Amino acid sequence: MYCNRMEDIAYDSSVFLFRGMTMSSVVVSGSSSLYGEVSIQGSKNAVLPILAASLLHSGVTVLKDCPCISDVSDMLLIMEDLGCQIKWDNNFLIIDATKLNQIPVTGDTAKKTRASILFLGALLSRNKHAVISYPGGCTIGKRPIDIHVNSLKKMGALLEDEENFLTCNVSKLRGTRIEFPSPSVGATENILLAAVLAEGITEIVNAAREPEVTALCEFLIQSGAKITGLGTSCLRIVGVDELHDTSYQVPPDRIVAGTYLTAVAATSGYAVIHGVIEQDLAEVIYVLRKMGCLIDIRENKAFIKRKGTLQSPGTITTEPFPGFPTDMQSQFLSLMSVAYGESVVEERIFEARYNIVDDLNRMGALINIEDKKAIVQGLRRLRGTEVVAKDLRGGAALIVAGLTAEGITVVRNTDYVERGYVDICKDLRNLNANIRMIKEA
Ligand code: UD1
Repeated sequence: MYCNRMEDIAYDSSVFLFRGMTMSSVVVSGSSSLYGEVSIQGSKNAVLPILAASLLHSGVTVLKDCPCISDVSDMLLIMEDLGCQIKWDNNFLIIDATKLNQIPVTGDTAKKTRASILFLGALLSRNKHAVISYPGGCTIGKRPIDIHVNSLKKMGALLEDEENFLTCNVSKLRGTRIEFPSPSVGATENILLAAVLAEGITEIVNAAREPEVTALCEFLIQSGAKITGLGTSCLRIVGVDELHDTSYQVPPDRIVAGTYLTAVAATSGYAVIHGVIEQDLAEVIYVLRKMGCLIDIRENKAFIKRKGTLQSPGTITTEPFPGFPTDMQSQFLSLMSVAYGESVVEERIFEARYNIVDDLNRMGALINIEDKKAIVQGLRRLRGTEVVAKDLRGGAALIVAGLTAEGITVVRNTDYVERGYVDICKDLRNLNANIRMIKEA
């Protein structure tokens, strides 16, 4: 389908309802430059483990600028089932975890939310018992949880593996030295959650260094935990008896910021993006500069302007922080498609993260997958068409591609995008994009 006018788009929900798929789509009219100012929402990946961490304390946690996204709503639904009292007050989220039940975390919501696995460390610590589904999440690879499980066993937990869930018990979690085979973000967070109230000292060697892990540590320290080594690959946690009430400012979302920087670059625009922490996005900013963007960062504001035709950055390789983030890889496939020259992406974190390539190629891109590499021939003229989001960042990347394309692009299945972006259409309209979301009641 090739459409030229926004009004031509009829939303046929019956097809998607029949397939049990999404009920939201994004319609974008491309080909004009973005300009203006936008503020970045609170970080999804920082707040999800912090929500789990709030269960460690029999009291009140207040989160400022918690993003109102579906991944957060799903976590809150599970927490309400567990007995938490939850209240939103404008941009404050208030959680009272004074009472906590011993119920299994195995419902449909837990199954579809990858971050529900983070309840494992927190519940084991608070209740000494947890029954938890194997987590779902985006379809970007196998995503095993062996590092979580083996590390908790080292701390004294007994884990029984059922077909669809894990049953875990512990009489007392004990601190120990745990060396990860590779730096998993989720496992680092889960072990932090298990360790803050454990007996003795826990050391996590080869810990993930992502800024969201540091945000979790900062939140826990503010609540009374004793953690050192923040931002390094060796975290040391000295167990304490209890935590206390706290109020915490959620940091801005570096991947949302990176997505909007990419959108401005792709459309040859200029913009001011509020809430960009330079060191958290250093590698992305480095690559954007290499491609021909002028980016100046002052007081957590990024001033971005594209200079002439975008150039290929050569090869980018996804790696654990501080390397190039896998969560920005899809958006760069869109950007590389309109840049001069051949570019290569090498995905080293998740094996199945080229979900958007077929759709981008249908829009006119020329991308070939060879094993873990995507080879992108640039300077393509993208055309608006109907495409389907298959994961969160892939959906955002298709929207970025739509902004550069001639005509109208309809991105179906944007429920995925709503898992991580509070209101991507409103943010992009702040940058003067012609974009809207269609929702089925
Ligand atoms: C987190 C982020 C996700 C990001 C990813 C990598 C959240 C909510 N999600 O996901 O957006 O893309 O980090 O930066 O913060 N692994 C194992 N065994 C395990 C755990 C992980 O083999 O027990 C492997 C994974 O398959 C993957 C790699 O380790 O290949 C990294 O995964 P991990 O860092 O754990 O990612 P998540 O925490 O799931």
